[in-house]
Amino acid sequence: MKIFDKTNPIDYRPSEDRYNQMLFRRCGKSGIQLPAISLGLWHNFGFVDNLENGRNIVKRAFDLGITHFDLANNYGPPFGSAEENFGTILKRDLAKYRDELFISSKAGYDMWPGPYGNFGSRKYLIASLDQSLKRMGLDYVDLFYHHRPDPDTPLEETMGALDQIVRSGKALYVGISNYSADETSKAIKVLRDLGTPCLIHQAKYSMFERWVEDGLLDVLDNSGVGLIAFSPLAQGMLTDKYVNGIPKDSRAAKNMTYLDKVTVEQNLPKIKALSDIAKSRGQKLSQMALSWLLKDDRVTSVLIGASSVGQLEENLQSIKSVDFSSDETKKIESALLS
Ligand SMILES: NC(=O)c1ccc[n+]([C@@H]2O[C@H](COP(=O)([O-])OP(=O)(O)OC[C@H]3O[C@@H](n4cnc5c(N)ncnc54)[C@H](OP(=O)(O)O)[C@@H]3O)[C@@H](O)[C@H]2O)c1
Repeated sequence: MKIFDKTNPIDYRPSEDRYNQMLFRRCGKSGIQLPAISLGLWHNFGFVDNLENGRNIVKRAFDLGITHFDLANNYGPPFGSAEENFGTILKRDLAKYRDELFISSKAGYDMWPGPYGNFGSRKYLIASLDQSLKRMGLDYVDLFYHHRPDPDTPLEETMGALDQIVRSGKALYVGISNYSADETSKAIKVLRDLGTPCLIHQAKYSMFERWVEDGLLDVLDNSGVGLIAFSPLAQGMLTDKYVNGIPKDSRAAKNMTYLDKVTVEQNLPKIKALSDIAKSRGQKLSQMALSWLLKDDRVTSVLIGASSVGQLEENLQSIKSVDFSSDETKKIESALLS
């Protein structure tokens, strides 16, 4: 574990103005409101990263009214290290504010060797959440997700495990991620019958990835379940970062993720056209990409990543301008088709 920088004060006091900075949206038909912008710790929070930088991002996020922090068992690298680092930050800076935070974790992808460390069995989900709680130093998470559908485990077993987790007090709410519209309808029904409603679906959604518009958003809306959009900036492509080439310290240059240089280069004409439209709205491309998702009030929250405090601050400005004229919408649609 890394040692904290002594020049970074331990007696963190969050901004008193934090709840005036953020827009909150009700999650489906539940009692929970989420910030329109949430922070995910998939990248930039592992043992390979600078913990002080991560700590500054989390503290600034809370100062700006971000109450929702999203993790998963395997975020890092190495697996588990983002939860461990987040646990360290919580203990140092945010322990007093636990009841103001909405913390999520997940299991569903590869986590440990053998048949019990992947997919959707009751055994995997329950053991994984126990490990996550230990790593973060928490008694419970606010939200626990099944991270992806499992074609081989009966849905009743996986949803039964989520129900058991809520009844045991280890999570307050449950959700699903990466389920198709049809799988989602079935999961919502099983959970409802068990008496543990599905709170939210976490789905990949951005200007570049719009599959949720073909059925999922309607299923969720009709069932009173929220939607949180992950990778809303297409991992950084929907920002001005790549407009003049691929910076050395960017995700695409590091080749550590699903974003590669070829994909960025293929999308450059669209990125440049969108960046010009953003300018005409008085926004950066990052801000317009987030505003564009938030114009639909079925989107409860957009779940961003950030590698610096500056990126986070830039992205937060998007909530100030979530309306689009029909002319702007047309221009965006035609840029996306170009
Ligand atoms: N459920 C799932 O299966 C799943 C899958 C993926 C992600 N997620 C969740 O969604 C969260 C967000 O995903 P994501 O990190 O892919 O989201 P994203 O917001 O699309 O991408 C974040 C990256 O974009 C760049 N960026 C952000 N703001 C910027 C700005 N203003 N200017 C320039 N570049 C900027 C940074 O890249 P650089 O590092 O290059 O600076 C940053 O790390 C994850 O942390 C995780 O919680 C869930």
